Amino acid sequence: MDSRPKGGPCHVAIIMDGNGRWATQRGRPRLFGHHVGARRVREIVRACPDIGVKYLTIFAFSTENWRRTQSEVAGLMSLFRRYITREAKALLAEGVRVRFIGDRIKLDDKLVRLMDELELLTSENTKVNLTIALNYGGRDEVARAVKRLTREVKAGHIDPEMVNEETLARHLDTCFLPDPDLVIRTSGEARISNFLLWQSAYAEYEFIDTLWPDFSKEIFAEIVGNYARRDRRFGAVTT
Ligand code: FPP
Repeated sequence: MDSRPKGGPCHVAIIMDGNGRWATQRGRPRLFGHHVGARRVREIVRACPDIGVKYLTIFAFSTENWRRTQSEVAGLMSLFRRYITREAKALLAEGVRVRFIGDRIKLDDKLVRLMDELELLTSENTKVNLTIALNYGGRDEVARAVKRLTREVKAGHIDPEMVNEETLARHLDTCFLPDPDLVIRTSGEARISNFLLWQSAYAEYEFIDTLWPDFSKEIFAEIVGNYARRDRRFGAVTT
């Protein structure tokens, strides 16, 4: 059943694509594009309360992104550490609760410690829920959920006959999140690239040509507004 709320999307998920191309077009190294992209993250998170977005989930690093050059991966990891260190205070003051999804096992200890600290620091916040997907892959997440679930079955805590969609969803990294209403991908690619595979079963998708470093709060507000109008019209036709 489609249980999406009417009106604006409560949960928006974004595949932030196009940093590399944006930088290359300007004759700059790819990492420069990622740095400008990080500034966009700040702007979009801040815009959420005004736009009516309660949950924002962003794809920062996929399980496939390890295949990039060693220097790009190292640069991205350092950018994540810097983002957390520099933004922690502002995120706390602005009422943003930050959580991470993805497999932490491959991430370096210092980054994982910063992630844990930021989650704890902002755990009482309720204004905006920001979820950052880091070393995240949808299939990997489902596989890890099944592993956790089978351990519980083996330990006798769960009757295998009782396993259903809800039981599996409770073992996903996203167990604390509602399903996304709207998934946006920037940079003109019309793929979902292993992002929130299970959770997006009923989501609307919006693929836009803008490269992530050019994405602005105005574009964000427009897409969310379009979603709200589309959704209301749909409601009117069916009732
Ligand atoms: C995709 O662009 C982008 C990424 C793999 C990284 C996303 C990271 C950021 C926006 C930086 C900051 C994030 C946080 C949470 C601080 P691409 O490199 O694939 O671009 P391309 O397709 O043009 O090569």
